[in-house]
Amino acid sequence: MTENRQVLIDSLPNGKLAESNYRMESAAAPTLQADGEVLCRTLVVTIGAGTRAGLQGSASYAGAPQTNIVMNGTGVARVEQSNSADFSVGDLVVCSTGWQDYSVQQANQLNKVQDDIDPAHYLGALGTNGLTAYFGLLTVGQPKEGETVLVSAGAGSVGHLVSQMARIKGCQAVGITSTPEKCQLLIDKMGCHASVSYKSEDFRSALKEACPNGVDVYFDNTGGDILGMSLRRMNTHGRIVCCGVVSQYDTSSPAGGPSGIPGLLVNKRIRMQGFLVFDYAAQYEAARTEIKGWIKSGALTPYNDEFNGLAQAPSAFVDLLAGGNVGTRIVRIAE
Ligand SMILES: NC(=O)c1ccc[n+]([C@@H]2O[C@H](COP(=O)([O-])OP(=O)(O)OC[C@H]3O[C@@H](n4cnc5c(N)ncnc54)[C@H](OP(=O)(O)O)[C@@H]3O)[C@@H](O)[C@H]2O)c1
Repeated sequence: MTENRQVLIDSLPNGKLAESNYRMESAAAPTLQADGEVLCRTLVVTIGAGTRAGLQGSASYAGAPQTNIVMNGTGVARVEQSNSADFSVGDLVVCSTGWQDYSVQQANQLNKVQDDIDPAHYLGALGTNGLTAYFGLLTVGQPKEGETVLVSAGAGSVGHLVSQMARIKGCQAVGITSTPEKCQLLIDKMGCHASVSYKSEDFRSALKEACPNGVDVYFDNTGGDILGMSLRRMNTHGRIVCCGVVSQYDTSSPAGGPSGIPGLLVNKRIRMQGFLVFDYAAQYEAARTEIKGWIKSGALTPYNDEFNGLAQAPSAFVDLLAGGNVGTRIVRIAE
C-alpha cells in the first residue's frame, strides 16, 4: 500500500495561526476510479497569505472555513497514473494538490507545466500571485510611464512582482515592508526606487519623502494603517488597487477601514477598486506569455524562498504571516 501523508486542519485559529491548528495523518494513497481522472504526486506546494483569509472566513469565494479536511494549496505535481489521453505518466502539472503526497485530479483541472522554464515559477510569477500582480497593476491600476506606483507587502510574493512590473512600465516603484534588511532588498533586487518600513517610528514622514511626487497607483496588499497612511499620499485621479488585507488576516478581530473614505476619494477623484484574479482567467495564457518573456529577458527576476518537507508546511505558513518570507514561499514535498 502506498502511504499518503496529509496535513489536516485540526482546529480553526483563535487569534494568531499556530502550528497546533494542524495535524498530520497517513492514509492509503487514492486510486483512479473513472475516466478523465489523473493520480498526482505532489512535488512542491506554495503557501500564500490569502489562504489565512480562508481560515478566517473573510474570503467569501473560499466558502466557510472547515476542520478535518486536508489544507488547501496549489502545487506542482507529477502524473503517476492517468485515465486521460491528455496526460501521460511523468508529466508535470499545476493543480490544487493540497498539503498531501497524493491526490486524484480531474484532467480538465490540470495545467501542464511547459518545460522551457523552471517549474517553480508556475507557483510564483507564472502562478496565481504573478497573475494577481499583472492584472491588479496593469488592468486595475493602469499605470502610465513616469507615474509613482506604491506597493505594500512589497517583499512578498505578489508585492515583489508588482514593483518589478511597475519598473518595466517605466514607473517609479516604491515598496513598503517591515525590516531595514527587507527595505534594502526591495531597492537592490526588486525594482524599487525607494522603500519604507511601516514599522519605523517616522513612517509617515518617510513615506512622504519616498514619494516626492505623490502616489498615482497604490497597490494595497495590507489594508489597515498602511492603507490609511497611503491614502493621504494619493494624487488627484490616483488609483488604489485593493488586492488583499494581510494586516487583518491573522486575528479574530480584524479592524475596520481607515478614515478618509469616501471624503478623500471624492475630493481627489480617486478610483479605489477591488479585484479577484480569477475574473481574468480567460486572459491567463496571454499574461503568462508576457511574464515568461520578461523572465527570459532578465527584466523580471522572481524570488522563491523554500522550506523542506510536508511536515514543515504549518511552520512555513506561521512564519510567512510573521513576515519571514522574501518572494514566493514554497515547500518541497518530494524530489
Ligand atoms: N485579489 C486577489 O485575487 C489575490 C490573489 C492572491 C493574493 N492576494 C492577496 O495579495 C496579498 C499578498 O499575498 P502574498 O501571497 O503575496 O503574501 P506575501 O506578501 O508573500 O506574505 C505576506 C507578507 O505580508 C506582510 N505582513 C504580514 N503581516 C502584516 C501586517 N500586520 N502588516 C503589514 N504587512 C504584513 C509580511 O511582510 P512584511 O515583512 O512586509 O511585514 C509577509 O511577508 C494578500 O493580501 C493576499 O490575500 C489577492
